[in-house]
Amino acid sequence: MNDGDYVLGTRDDEVERLGLQHRVWRGRVLEAFRRARIRSGQRVVDVGAGPGFVTADLASLVGPSGRVIALERSPHFVDKLRSRGLANVEVREHDVSQQFGLGGADASWCRWLLSFVPTPAATVRHIGDALRPGGIAVFHEYAAYETWRIMPPNPLQERFRSLVMQSWSESGGEPDVALWLPQWLAEAGLEIVETRILADIITPADETWQWPRAFMETGARRLHELGYIEATEVEAMAVLLDEPPEGAHMLTPLVAEIIARKR
Ligand SMILES: C[S@@+](CC[C@H](N)C(=O)[O-])C[C@H]1O[C@@H](n2cnc3c(N)ncnc32)[C@H](O)[C@@H]1O
Repeated sequence: MNDGDYVLGTRDDEVERLGLQHRVWRGRVLEAFRRARIRSGQRVVDVGAGPGFVTADLASLVGPSGRVIALERSPHFVDKLRSRGLANVEVREHDVSQQFGLGGADASWCRWLLSFVPTPAATVRHIGDALRPGGIAVFHEYAAYETWRIMPPNPLQERFRSLVMQSWSESGGEPDVALWLPQWLAEAGLEIVETRILADIITPADETWQWPRAFMETGARRLHELGYIEATEVEAMAVLLDEPPEGAHMLTPLVAEIIARKR
């Protein structure tokens, strides 16, 4: 498997960005795990674990008597996951389009993955198969990526956002994949027990600002690498959120939190 096939890339600058993203989102993730009652002794599947920032949190939640099975396709991210040396984490290099070969898990976690897989409904089915009856699946996936806007709107950011969405679609994904989740979950034998919208209006003084800022920095380079923008456009996009105009605000892209239980 070639890491380059994954539209966001898997280089070290992407690992760094995922780390920053994790710091910004960590509170909400832990809150979702609390509501899903993920706890000590449980067996939890981290689906598309990336370099393992959330995996490490899950490992600490389930403790030495529990187990986290981290599924990830990118060999580079798999190395990062393994180098964490977490005793209660089993790392498997695996394409989640294929059956997981797992059953009886107490819970699963899946964030910002389904937008990038060509057959997300199949992945949701595999998640269902991996859970025991009563097992809980937690998702954080985009439902309305076009909500990501600067206030007032900025043409360069609007162009960046459109090209990002285009690049995800053209690589076989769907940015607003959460819109289909209720249907796929029902088909996979899971009932939704809780939903919420995760979106904010932020200013450059908020730590959350660093998340889209970093995404534009790595994303502009990636868009050029993939042939969506000219080299001359990269710099202006990459630094757009570094020094926003006085009074700028931003609406973050809308994430749907969906917690479902296997029947
Ligand atoms: C945006 S990252 C999110 C990583 C992690 N879930 C998080 O929230 O930090 C998407 C991850 O999905 C992985 N991925 C994409 N397609 C995959 C597939 N078919 N099988 C397994 N992992 C995949 C990528 O390699 C990447 O690690």
